[in-house]
Amino acid sequence: MNIISAGQFSREEVEKLIDNAEQIRYQYVHYGPMACRFNQGRTLATLFYEPSTRTRLSFEAAMCRLGGNVITTENAAAFSSAIKGESLEDTIRIVSSYADVIVLRHPEKGSAERAAAVSKVPLINAGDGDGEHPTQALLDIYTVQRECGRVDGLHFAFVGDLRYGRTVHSLIRLLGLYENVKITLVSPGTLSLPQDVLKFIKEPVVTESLHEALAAKPDVVYLTRIQAERHPVMAAPLKEYTITRQEMGILHDKAILMHPLPRVSEIHQEVDSDPRAAYFRQAENGYWMRAGILTHLLGMD
Ligand code: NCD
Repeated sequence: MNIISAGQFSREEVEKLIDNAEQIRYQYVHYGPMACRFNQGRTLATLFYEPSTRTRLSFEAAMCRLGGNVITTENAAAFSSAIKGESLEDTIRIVSSYADVIVLRHPEKGSAERAAAVSKVPLINAGDGDGEHPTQALLDIYTVQRECGRVDGLHFAFVGDLRYGRTVHSLIRLLGLYENVKITLVSPGTLSLPQDVLKFIKEPVVTESLHEALAAKPDVVYLTRIQAERHPVMAAPLKEYTITRQEMGILHDKAILMHPLPRVSEIHQEVDSDPRAAYFRQAENGYWMRAGILTHLLGMD
């Protein structure tokens, strides 16, 4: 099994992965590190052609926690044979004979699918350009489930660069699996959600106004950074989509604020101490979710 798109999952499969993450977390918290060495003797390869902090390190840390090994090339664009002109396919053919599972991040949309076609081992898409980032969506759903106790029936507001933000593209696909989910899309017209993702939403509310969206009392507000590196002309952060204490004042008591991180200026630091600011807990959940994913792909669950 490969993980290429969030659109590949059934609700049952998502629930299984959440269950895995929770079980590994429980084992670790209650019985310590020796109790969750499910992937002993297995090797993870991480191949990142774009920068990453959380995604790469959480996959690697999860594999270590599970008793497995990690091989990596931190900046694959510069330090792998890509710089000598080797194709992605050739690199994957080789790496898949060294490792039991591969995590790939690459700037081209569709690259993960191309890589999976030649890989001898399970391949995980950790971001393919402005395409998708399915494991982020899985950890986002896990976070909503933990924070709100459910996903069905919730109102989500997605704010910022919806055109190039791949985490949003994947999360909206997953939300298509849940009942009575309401989605509000907040962006300038030039950064609106691509049509191929929009079709996963039944009746989206579309607005350019953050205040109008917040006044509708969403349960989950999901901020994104301007994906400046993917814009044809370098773009500045969207000042009109900044969350300060004032915007938090509009949200209801049980609402949560999410962000895949890194944030630039979308969320003021003064918001961090608000209990509804869930983004650091979200990043931590990524570690456990990725442990659950690795265990599943290696058939160790
Ligand atoms: C995101 C990404 O790489 O798409 N980062 C992440 O994995 N948490 C979001 C971003 O870079 O803005």
